[in-house]
Amino acid sequence: MSYVLLTGGAGYIGSHTALALLRAGEQVISFDNYSNSSAESLKRVEFLAGKPIIQIKGDVRDRSALADVFKQYPIKAVIHFAALKAVGESVQKPLAYYETNVGGTVTLCQVMAEFNVKRLVFSSSATVYGASEVMPIPETASRSATNPYGQTKLMIEHVLSDLYQSDDSWDIAVLRYFNPVGADHSGKIGEDPNGIPNNLMPFITQVAVGKREVLNVFGADYNTPDGTGVRDFIHVTDLAAGHLAALKHLFTKPGIGYFNLGTGIGYSVLDIVKCFIEVNQINIPYVITQRRPGDIGCCYADPTRALTVLGWKTEKTLEDMVRDSWNWQKNNPNGYN
Ligand code: NAD
Ligand code: WQD
Repeated sequence: MSYVLLTGGAGYIGSHTALALLRAGEQVISFDNYSNSSAESLKRVEFLAGKPIIQIKGDVRDRSALADVFKQYPIKAVIHFAALKAVGESVQKPLAYYETNVGGTVTLCQVMAEFNVKRLVFSSSATVYGASEVMPIPETASRSATNPYGQTKLMIEHVLSDLYQSDDSWDIAVLRYFNPVGADHSGKIGEDPNGIPNNLMPFITQVAVGKREVLNVFGADYNTPDGTGVRDFIHVTDLAAGHLAALKHLFTKPGIGYFNLGTGIGYSVLDIVKCFIEVNQINIPYVITQRRPGDIGCCYADPTRALTVLGWKTEKTLEDMVRDSWNWQKNNPNGYN
């Protein structure tokens, strides 16, 4: 028996991926320091899958804690989710972001090399495309970063590329997620942000549940059909399936590959708000405010490579995304607490 190790396995995307892995018959270990999650998510994943997860509380910056996991369990691959991810906070605390995201990844790769485990799926982000002029964005588009969080993802991509150049026995899938939203259809697991949500969908669901009064729509003067920002929103269940496809691909010894995980469709902020209202029959009061500093007008993926190489594409609709986001929030008004 061998295991798939998930760093950050208790988080939003990690927990949904853990569920997909268990359902696909994999054995899962989660290694998470719970700095932005709770073990409750994993308990619920175990319940939904009817299978256990080995749960280890640990920090990816802690080399000996990581080494202990590799000593104790046979691990065939690692999916590395653990990171700090709040763009605004990264501007305030850049060193914490470089330490956890870049430093944590370097430490993880060193330990993997030591134990000769060289299959890695890495959580990158569409943020590495900066303000792309090409739309939809292919993986070959130029990369840049506009904030420390984005810099960390870009730096890690360079680290992994250099690592592969130095030792081609590694197999690495760099997955660039667009805008993950939604929740498992059961409503038992979902996104549980700390404090005031930075991202659009959790803010909308908190307005819907009465925790926030009004949604601020950050700018209606972008060069987009209705003037509001356009993004490629992807259902987290589709995203989880993308990890399974990437993992399977790694066993064909492909070397290093970069994949956009998105739908290829851009929806605007107002498209989301209107769809949410219509599908869930709940009003979402909103006001148009100033642009949020650092935001771009438009961003959506060309997901062709993931289809061609991984055989993966999204299945869920925008209606599924808003319905499942609300189903999670209304059943768990205080998240996992
Ligand atoms: P999340 O915060 O829900 O999950 C990250 C998990 O990592 C959390 O459970 C947290 O407790 C854990 N963690 C943080 N620091 C750690 C450390 N030092 N040691 C061990 N565990 C640690 O975030 P998510 O949305 O599930 O994101 C997962 C990954 O995907 C991250 O790398 C993130 O940067 C990336 N990503 C997320 C999005 C998004 O919008 N959610 C988009 C693109 C990329
Ligand atoms: C989407 C749209 C906002 C909140 C961020 C990170 C990115 C990635 C995903 C990790 C934009 C608008 C939002 C609100 C609004 N994370 N909005 N009112 O900015 O595309 O991406 O999360 O890698 O790196 O930057 O996502 O959900 O914050 O915003 O009008 O209260 O919704 O202006 O147009 P974003 P988002």
